[in-house]
Amino acid sequence: MSRNALTLVFPAAVALLVCSLVVLFLTATGLEPGPASDEPLAAATADSVRRATTPGNDSLYLASLNLSAADAEAIAAGDALFKSNCAQCHAVNDVVVGPALAGIDKRRPMPWLIKWVKNSSKVVASGDEYAVKLFNQYQKQQMPSFSLTDQEIERIVKYVSSPGSCLPPRGTDDAVAVN
Ligand code: HEC
Repeated sequence: MSRNALTLVFPAAVALLVCSLVVLFLTATGLEPGPASDEPLAAATADSVRRATTPGNDSLYLASLNLSAADAEAIAAGDALFKSNCAQCHAVNDVVVGPALAGIDKRRPMPWLIKWVKNSSKVVASGDEYAVKLFNQYQKQQMPSFSLTDQEIERIVKYVSSPGSCLPPRGTDDAVAVN
């Protein structure tokens, strides 16, 4: 290489090096536009994962459970039915006005649950031992009768028994005020 060429190439290389160092420095200190720092990004990612795996976000959440399409559909329908008919008195894991419904599919057979939801006072009046005991335990507060179909009740039970139903609700807009 001739001396002439070197005098051209050398300053160019130095300028390039200085430029890259400046960009690197700006990126590291967060002055460069783009992700300001790693921490909020990590928090945002964790939040979106939490949201995506929380029941309120049905489609993503259900996809994460790896359910069959039919099950996912039944559970999503049960979730909506539960929220519009039952949630003012019931939660999955907590006693609200009525008992926590977690594990209800193990406590009572489906035909009993269907009869109960359609007309609980009829079940109590029939002398059903479990129903009478529960009714007395809850200060004889009568649960309303629902004109839901057997399938709708099965879907509510399926939702309540699904692993996702016991996760905390998303955001404050989902919270039910008690008292
Ligand atoms: C107005 C309040 C209220 C609403 C709304 C309500 N329930 Fe209830 N539920 C109760 C009470 C109170 C009991 C306890 C038994 C009693 O006092 O009759 C109960 C008991 C039950 C039980 C028996 C629980 C156990 O541990 O054995 C089931 C199942 C049930 N409810 C399902 C439902 C479903 C499903 C819905 C919605 C379609 C619903 N309830 C809506 C108040 C309510």
